[in-house]
Amino acid sequence: FEVLWDAAAADKGGWPSFMAKEVSEEPEAVANTLRGRIRDGQIVIPELDGLDELFASINRVIVIACGTAAYAGMVGKYALEQWTRVPVDVELAHEFRYRDPVIGPDTLVVSISQSGETMDTLMAVKYARDRGARTLSICNTQGATIPRESDAIVYTHAGPEVAVASTKAFLAQITALYLLALHVARVRGSLSADEARLQVLELEAIPAKISRILELEQSRIEQLAYWMADTRSVLFLGRHVGYPIALEGALKLKEISYIHAEGFAAGELKHGPIALIEPGQPVFVIVPSPRESALLHSKVVSNIQEIRARGARVIAVAEEGDVAVLPFADEVLRIPLADPLFEPLLAVVPLHIFAMGLATAKGLDVDQPRNLAKSVTVE
Ligand code: G6P
Repeated sequence: FEVLWDAAAADKGGWPSFMAKEVSEEPEAVANTLRGRIRDGQIVIPELDGLDELFASINRVIVIACGTAAYAGMVGKYALEQWTRVPVDVELAHEFRYRDPVIGPDTLVVSISQSGETMDTLMAVKYARDRGARTLSICNTQGATIPRESDAIVYTHAGPEVAVASTKAFLAQITALYLLALHVARVRGSLSADEARLQVLELEAIPAKISRILELEQSRIEQLAYWMADTRSVLFLGRHVGYPIALEGALKLKEISYIHAEGFAAGELKHGPIALIEPGQPVFVIVPSPRESALLHSKVVSNIQEIRARGARVIAVAEEGDVAVLPFADEVLRIPLADPLFEPLLAVVPLHIFAMGLATAKGLDVDQPRNLAKSVTVE
């Protein structure tokens, strides 16, 4: 009698791939990153004790990262600026080091890295530190090199991520940035206690909302991906916090499905990308909530009308109850209601499922895409 033991399959916990397991863990990635850091509606980050003076004195934040982590940084910029009123720039780590950035002791350089080993990001952190900036690392791997080289660390608690394309770590990175933003806002007195408490409540509600998307939409999105297995090109449009999500949706599709995909700021459409639209072109559109910003919502709906008139096949990612998109969208993927700044944590989930579904439908190895490595330790 022989017991067959497949260690890799055991680690996958019964899921067909690590990526499938990791997408299923997106709610926990957010919940675990929040765990222990909220007390009585207030943010408590013991790792940042003793840094109040620094946070009070900074006049600029520069976020540096690569790949998916850079898109998390772009999302974080909106919350950091809105809540702390400190100007934030987001830069790809490999670009940052090869110019002459204006940095000094009043600059906080926030690096984001799942692995904590990405060489481009590490070199940018060292470069910033050598020029007198203060450095803070958002990292998912305990004891990795980048946090060791930084003045401060906020760990994301997404758990180990094995699939090369990052999924749950992206959500944890945004969560950590929001915690950091709320913490800095408290130190600087830039957000009222009541306002901060509302944002904390929004954050705490996110994991259950992600679970709801997985429960209600996953199999439908996988079906859609299956039908689209022969697609050669997919475009993604978003505005405001939906823009980095469009970029992330496109990156995921390139990484694991080997499909040409591009993300655009929806407002940029008329300045070029609309020329790409021809009959049958699939376009994902991240639709902002109509409740919070009717203007932004109506602009995106008119973008949808413009591409639809040119034959695009529109797949809208829209809030539950948003009926304005129905007449113009071929498919509507629903996300639960949330405050606009928190929508990225929901809108990205269908895009992760879609990329995974499409790669699976094409019979590709979703965990180990060709030419890519989980952590790129060369420049
Ligand atoms: C590699 C991976 C990407 C990842 C990027 C940044 O290119 O293939 O999925 O987003 O590195 O990785 P990091 O570990 O620094 O977050």
